[in-house]
Amino acid sequence: QRNEYKAQYNILDAAASYYQQQLKTHQHRDQAVSYLKSRGLTGKIAHIFGIGYAPPGWDNLLKVLGTTPQEQQLLETSGMLIRHEEKDSLYDRFRERIMFPIRDMRGRVIAFGGRVLGDDKPKYLNSPETDTFHKSRELYGLYEARKLSAKLERIIIVEGYMDVISLAQFGITYAVATLGTATTAQHLERLFKTVPEIIFCFDGDNAGRKAAERALEAALPIIKDGLQARFLFLPEGEDPDTLIRQESKEGFEKRLNEAPQLSDFFFRSLSEEVDMTSMDGRARFSNQALPLIQQMKTSLLQQMMLEKICEVTGLTLEQINSTINLAQSTPS
Ligand code: GTP
Ligand code: MN
Ligand code: MN
Ligand code: MN
Ligand code: MN
Repeated sequence: QRNEYKAQYNILDAAASYYQQQLKTHQHRDQAVSYLKSRGLTGKIAHIFGIGYAPPGWDNLLKVLGTTPQEQQLLETSGMLIRHEEKDSLYDRFRERIMFPIRDMRGRVIAFGGRVLGDDKPKYLNSPETDTFHKSRELYGLYEARKLSAKLERIIIVEGYMDVISLAQFGITYAVATLGTATTAQHLERLFKTVPEIIFCFDGDNAGRKAAERALEAALPIIKDGLQARFLFLPEGEDPDTLIRQESKEGFEKRLNEAPQLSDFFFRSLSEEVDMTSMDGRARFSNQALPLIQQMKTSLLQQMMLEKICEVTGLTLEQINSTINLAQSTPS
């Protein structure tokens, strides 16, 4: 089984080396280097994350790494080449992009993300799902975080490649990014095997706030006693990359240390949606909160959150418990 994928890992590793080499030697490398400089990245951090450059052209990778039918096959299976059905020919997926290799926990390259150098669309292009690359499982930067930190005590989940890399450049070496997908239970389970504390830090925009609410729902059934999830909200228009450049490590860590706990965010986001001064509003609030709290596996925090519901709604614990039981026994 291992051997089956060995050639695929090798060719992705060769692709990463090729893109890194292009950043050093290609005739158009200046464009890529100036772009990275304009984003404030140092050569050192680019090296740590293995950043490279896919030059313009439809068959650069094909020509260099796809010299035999077997190699072409491997590059196609791993998503690096795309087959043009009508012409029955292969061409490079990544063209004229900054290349971010995505590594698994063992440091093997399993996929790439590629960013345009300007404002073209799509801004980011990722490798497709393959037998060895599952977006719902992998986290960008986890391998690097483990390598860069002597001991990981907490992990920040951010949205993007550049957020992970900027934070690391400024000394916050414990951020990882989901790969353009929502945070899944699998992501969280994997991270909680490594650290007892996760801090979600999405962009200060509508997409980021939506992502936080979805992350909250993913985290509720996974949190156990002794584990902690917190939510850091950034000022409107900022993301971790732009903010750390303004506030540097100390400022950003201060925000991290003050980030609201899961339960704070839970009550705040649910009560924002209803009028808590009216009876109907408090009933709606309970109806939304209770099924979520029911999924929790932590006995202590769950109990405390139920007590908080009593406090804000005026319900008794007995009333709440009978509501939960009723809800459970009613087929929907
Ligand atoms: P920069 O402009 O390089 O700083 O990117 P960003 O990470 O700040 O991007 P943004 O906040 O717009 O989006 C967050 C994440 O969503 C990105 O890092 C990507 O993983 C993903 N994403 C953004 N745009 C696209 C896109 O056009 N296609 C795909 N597949 N993913 C995208
Ligand atoms: Mn955003
Ligand atoms: Mn976006
Ligand atoms: Mn950004
Ligand atoms: Mn962003």
